[in-house]
Amino acid sequence: MKIGVVGLGFVGLVTAAVLSSDGFEVIGIDVDPEKIRKLKEGKVPIYEPELEKYIRRGNPEFSLDYTLLRSADLTFVSVPTPTVDRNIDLSFIFDAVGKISGITGSDIVIKSTVVPGTAKKIMDRIPNNVISNPEFLREGAAIHDTLHPDRVIIGGNNAELVERVWSFTGAPAIKTTNENAELIKYASNAFLATKISFINEIANLCEQIPETDVDTVATGMGLDRRIGSTFLKAGIGYGGSCFPKDTQALMSFADSFGQEMKIVRSATEVNESRIQRFLDRMGAFFENLSDLKVLQLGLSFKDNTNDSRESPALNLYYKLKDRVKQLTVYDPVSKVEGVDYCMDLEVGLKDKDAIVIATEWPEFKILEKMDVKIPIFDGRRILDPAKFKKYIGVGLYEQG
Ligand code: UDX
Repeated sequence: MKIGVVGLGFVGLVTAAVLSSDGFEVIGIDVDPEKIRKLKEGKVPIYEPELEKYIRRGNPEFSLDYTLLRSADLTFVSVPTPTVDRNIDLSFIFDAVGKISGITGSDIVIKSTVVPGTAKKIMDRIPNNVISNPEFLREGAAIHDTLHPDRVIIGGNNAELVERVWSFTGAPAIKTTNENAELIKYASNAFLATKISFINEIANLCEQIPETDVDTVATGMGLDRRIGSTFLKAGIGYGGSCFPKDTQALMSFADSFGQEMKIVRSATEVNESRIQRFLDRMGAFFENLSDLKVLQLGLSFKDNTNDSRESPALNLYYKLKDRVKQLTVYDPVSKVEGVDYCMDLEVGLKDKDAIVIATEWPEFKILEKMDVKIPIFDGRRILDPAKFKKYIGVGLYEQG
């Protein structure tokens, strides 16, 4: 089977890499000449563990030329669907499907996150059959998640070909309407965001009550199979290219029906208050923040990625920088222009008055093996509090 992939961002590149390495003939198309040039030279334009290996193994073709899609049996579309003025912007989708339909009459599979009704709107404009096949991969674990998804959601008519493509994963397939498939993606992301905000509120409570620790509470809750243990890690909030954008798009979409998503709104409000709460705790600990030299560990929105889009860590950096004397960041891979960096954690530690952990990179656990005397503010709860003289962690009561 020959497969086209239009839009070579995270989802598109990973899809192209995994399907080509599974034996499909894959043609990846993007409108960015620089990206295509790099890919043709064998360079991967994003940081994602294992992606380069899978691209090398599958060797998909990369091109700017949509006409190569003429021979494709089906084409996946994974272009961005940004939120503009609180609403989803579908212009990249309509542009891409218009171009594809000008070349081929074969099926188009929408991987991008789109609000319910979008596939039908596309089919009103073009003659091709449109199938909805939302993507649930996490950055930093994208190859793993594509090879081993919990489920495959396929919405629309004549879905057998798409089902066949993903059959190698062995995951259960749900075949349903386009609209259900589209909504399953939003409902899943909004639920996960809510789960995080829920535990973050419990963390706020734990910070007030001696002898409580949100991590222990989360472990105790998570063992109940009805609740589940994942996405119960308290911290400085969720970020990235999906949760903030998708919760916003879902609320606006619901609004258009006069339907308020109260729980999702509360989840976003809790999330937006995380950085201020963390700063308030730092402010309560030190008499004067403006005398401090601080080392911030982490800038990406989570570990195993260099992505800092909507990153709570980057947000924290901008807010903290104005309050302290000096703020230096160490992150294993994420770099943002204008941020003061050090290239080595140990060098960065010299002459500092405090450490802030902003991203859950496992390698920051090295601090447990060092004789750290300055206070640590653990915004991601990755360290063992017992290993430090002065440890202030999210969701942990601070002993005086
Ligand atoms: C998410 C969804 O998980 C994925 O299914 C969807 O396709 C895209 O959006 P991603 O944004 O890559 O994936 O990362 P994820 O691992 O979900 O983390 C999102 C944010 O939540 C990160 O900032 C992370 O630090 C935070 N998080 C996650 C928590 O604060 N606590 C948790 O328990 C889990």
